[in-house]
Amino acid sequence: MIGASGAGKSSLARALVGVWPAAGGAVRLDTANINDWDPLALGPYVGYLPQDVELFDASVAENIARLGAVDPEAVVCAAKLAGVHEMILRLPDGYDTQIGTGGHALSGGQRQRVALARAVYGDVRLVLLDEPNAFLDAEGEAALAEAIARLKAEGRTIVVITHRPQILASVDRVLALAHGQVKNFGPRDEVLAAYTRPAVVAGRQQAAQSKRPQADSPATTSAPADAAADRDAGPAAAAKAAVPAEPRFIQRSRR
Ligand SMILES: Nc1ncnc2c1ncn2[C@@H]1O[C@H](COP(=O)(O)OP(=O)(O)OP(=O)(O)O)[C@@H](O)[C@H]1O
Ligand SMILES: [Mg+2]
Repeated sequence: MIGASGAGKSSLARALVGVWPAAGGAVRLDTANINDWDPLALGPYVGYLPQDVELFDASVAENIARLGAVDPEAVVCAAKLAGVHEMILRLPDGYDTQIGTGGHALSGGQRQRVALARAVYGDVRLVLLDEPNAFLDAEGEAALAEAIARLKAEGRTIVVITHRPQILASVDRVLALAHGQVKNFGPRDEVLAAYTRPAVVAGRQQAAQSKRPQADSPATTSAPADAAADRDAGPAAAAKAAVPAEPRFIQRSRR
């Protein structure tokens, strides 16, 4: 899900996971209205990483287990899926580290990665990630891409909200929101193509070619700089390079 700040992405996310009842229409999982489910029965199947991550004043393990009974095997499994196991082992008391009020024993990026493990804990079927890479470094970003790939391979449904083009390489479809309305929805490349600006892309290509006569193929010079830099790093990077130039929404929200 993409769109400028205030477009309504987080609002829609809250409706999708049942936190906010839909004011119009309905959110259905398989054919059942999400608000007809007993929240306690539905909870274990839905993972939600909110934009403003809040962790509980408890241990890392208890946070990942969502304050329920800690099943150590499931906690480690979720942490590994989220690519955060090694980072947790480096904490002073590992999984037993108390993270304190507001989770301030952890950095912003560490909190976001523990919250990702919490979102994928157990047998989640729907995972909603609201700007999961906002505070991540390159290692965290790679772990996130890997987690999304694994969740997809296991047949789980993932909705990810992002302002950053890298993560779009992992998705099948894009929903573009503007002013609380759906602007576009469909296969990723088709939707993103509608937001690229051919004149700008052509201009960039020309500039790149005149500055770097020995630059690689024009196809890579038109891709986002970070995707181009990664283009030799493997299949995931190739997918990144396949993402067209930045959607206009993303460019606008950065200004
Ligand atoms: N509880 C609320 N009551 C009324 N309006 C709200 C409420 N929460 C958010 N809004 C408004 O709804 C609009 C959409 O907010 P939302 O948080 O969904 O945007 P967003 O697309 O996630 O933006 P960002 O990219 O900055 O996170 C904003 O104008 C916001 O002020
Ligand atoms: Mg938001």
